[in-house]
Amino acid sequence: MTAKSTGSSARRKQGALIEWHDVSYTVTDQVTKQKKTIISNMYGLAQPGRLLAIMGPSGAGKSTLLDVLACNNSSQGAALSGRITVDGAPRAARQFAFISCYVQQKDVLLSSATVREVIHTAALLKLPYRGMAAAAKRELVEATLKELDLAGCADTLIGDETIGLKGISGGQKRRVSVGIELVKDPRVLFLDEPSSGLDSEMALGVMSSLVRLARKGRTVVCTIHQPNSDITDCFDDYLLLAGGRTLYGGLWSGAVDFFARAGYSCPSFKNPTDYFMSVITRDEAAVDTLATAYAKLRLGLLAEAADEGRATASQLGLSATAADGGWSTYSTAGGGALSATPQSSSRLAEFAATAEAADDGEEMKGGGTAAAVALDVESGSGRGSGGGYADRADVDASGALEEPAGPLVPVWFQVGVLTARVWRTWIRSPVMLASELVQYLFFALFVGLMYFRFNDKLGEGDFNRIACIWFSFAVLCFTPSYTAVTSWAAERLLLKRELDQRLYGINTYYLARYAVLLPFEMAQCALFLCVMYFFVGFYPSAANFFIFFAVLSMFQIISEGLGVCCAVVTKTPTSAVIMLTFVLLVLLSFSGFLTVKTPVYFVWVQKMSFFTYSFSALLDTEFAKISFVGAEGQTVPGMEVLPASVDTGLTTAQNIGVVAAQVGGMELIKLAALHLAYRLKWL
Ligand SMILES: Nc1ncnc2c1ncn2[C@@H]1O[C@H](COP(=O)(O)OP(=O)(O)O)[C@@H](O)[C@H]1O
Ligand SMILES: [Mg+2]
Repeated sequence: MTAKSTGSSARRKQGALIEWHDVSYTVTDQVTKQKKTIISNMYGLAQPGRLLAIMGPSGAGKSTLLDVLACNNSSQGAALSGRITVDGAPRAARQFAFISCYVQQKDVLLSSATVREVIHTAALLKLPYRGMAAAAKRELVEATLKELDLAGCADTLIGDETIGLKGISGGQKRRVSVGIELVKDPRVLFLDEPSSGLDSEMALGVMSSLVRLARKGRTVVCTIHQPNSDITDCFDDYLLLAGGRTLYGGLWSGAVDFFARAGYSCPSFKNPTDYFMSVITRDEAAVDTLATAYAKLRLGLLAEAADEGRATASQLGLSATAADGGWSTYSTAGGGALSATPQSSSRLAEFAATAEAADDGEEMKGGGTAAAVALDVESGSGRGSGGGYADRADVDASGALEEPAGPLVPVWFQVGVLTARVWRTWIRSPVMLASELVQYLFFALFVGLMYFRFNDKLGEGDFNRIACIWFSFAVLCFTPSYTAVTSWAAERLLLKRELDQRLYGINTYYLARYAVLLPFEMAQCALFLCVMYFFVGFYPSAANFFIFFAVLSMFQIISEGLGVCCAVVTKTPTSAVIMLTFVLLVLLSFSGFLTVKTPVYFVWVQKMSFFTYSFSALLDTEFAKISFVGAEGQTVPGMEVLPASVDTGLTTAQNIGVVAAQVGGMELIKLAALHLAYRLKWL
């Protein structure tokens, strides 16, 4: 894409014509292990410049159809059959992903960012780094804000009611979710229930935005639940499903008439969609009647929609030469539709079969994952390889994104963008920052007052020093690891979604996160140590202080890593906290302070634990420089009073080296845990 092509806010975008023929989707039920057909034998089309609304009772298969059309299916053992074409050519999953976007039902947004920041971050991560100037991206962000009527709240925080952070309304959030996808300038938008959970005003706002996007030329497909009559006015085409079958598919304006012809006249004062839903949910026979009636009239109704779609396209000045034969295989001009409707559905099936055999696209039948895969990877058979997209890229005057050969955005740039975002999140979370600071300060003062002013009496001064160091470890292992669990709970959904969208990889996330977190952790550790060290009166030397600082910082980093690992392998923060508490208590127990002699079956815990080496390193550092006075006035060097249980047999430097190696090991484990969790879909 060039900068020039994205500048104008009145962007026209050539949508794509998506047609599906005899599409069925079968999954294997995880519990009963039986095959379950979720959508069966569906036909239909979604057209440029128009909004297709998919309705039906819950469980009708709306989301499944949307996923199938958007290439979003990842169910194991699922089989897809039938034929899906884009602009007349078989759909190629990768290319299609590039020109389409999918807005999920649930908004997963960063609550601490403003609307503009969220969309700008999406633009930086989704648009090509090369060949598009930063100013052009900003312009595109502004155009997107305007297009979605978000300019007024562009500098408002997204917010999150559950944590008491005031922000934008639900309808605005939904539009921000659309905006994140829209910066990519997609030709096709899929949205799962964009209006659900919103009040009628907000829902209408969202739907009006969608109609505006369609009127710019894009193809918009959404599922919808309980629309009021203002919202139904937004529909162009309409698809009604129940139990995985199509009850109606065609122009929205023809739906009432179709129902009437099938024997269900909508009372004139009633919202047609309410009426349709009440008919199909109350009367089981109605579903069969309508499905049969629709099967008979289907091609005629789809042809009508296709003809209307062609009119829309010419009104909007879109190119109507999608498929080589004509606008649509369903349209009367395309030669695919029936002018005379067959009398029986079996004859219709026959007709459909011959029509499709004549249509030289690739025919897909049969089950098994192989079929599903085949449908997704099919690219060039039928009308010539890549025909649809290659031709269209020329036709599309607005400059469609062409699929790049390499990665869009270099990793270092992604790290930069994410680092800025993590940094902003921390700075903007005063509660989190303050609570961290208060915790560290409180514990530093608490430990400081508890052991205030060490003395050098043998049996008192030595014990207090050992206990004080042990207690400091206890503080510095629980605080950062619990924070890690909490922040992971807040981040996990967004991370999963962005990883799914391939905005960046796990390594990028890791680098960005720790580029910010590491300095924060060091600062917290410094704060804790500065207060505590001088309150209790450890040996006053710069060298000792910095050894304390280095060891405690490394200790804290490992603790944080343990927190992340526990959070990643468990599904909920509660189980993460239980697991973490258990692990930390075990490690604390065998640091050499609570036991004089470690039982032989726990020796391995002690040998592996980072507590052991950190503890030994700090005790050696302190006790090497001081001596104690015994009851009879004799002087005893510090090293002689150190209990054997804390001696690792290593020198101070070696102990510190082991801890440093453990930091490296923990970072690797953490990274591996993140990768594994994502692979295994634990996120
Ligand atoms: N992977 C799957 N395994 C088993 N059943 C599924 C799977 N995906 C969807 N279903 C079932 O298919 C039906 C349709 O699902 P869905 O498309 O989500 O419905 P809708 O969006 O219309 O409410 C539901 O009954 C759902 O339980
Ligand atoms: Mg659904």
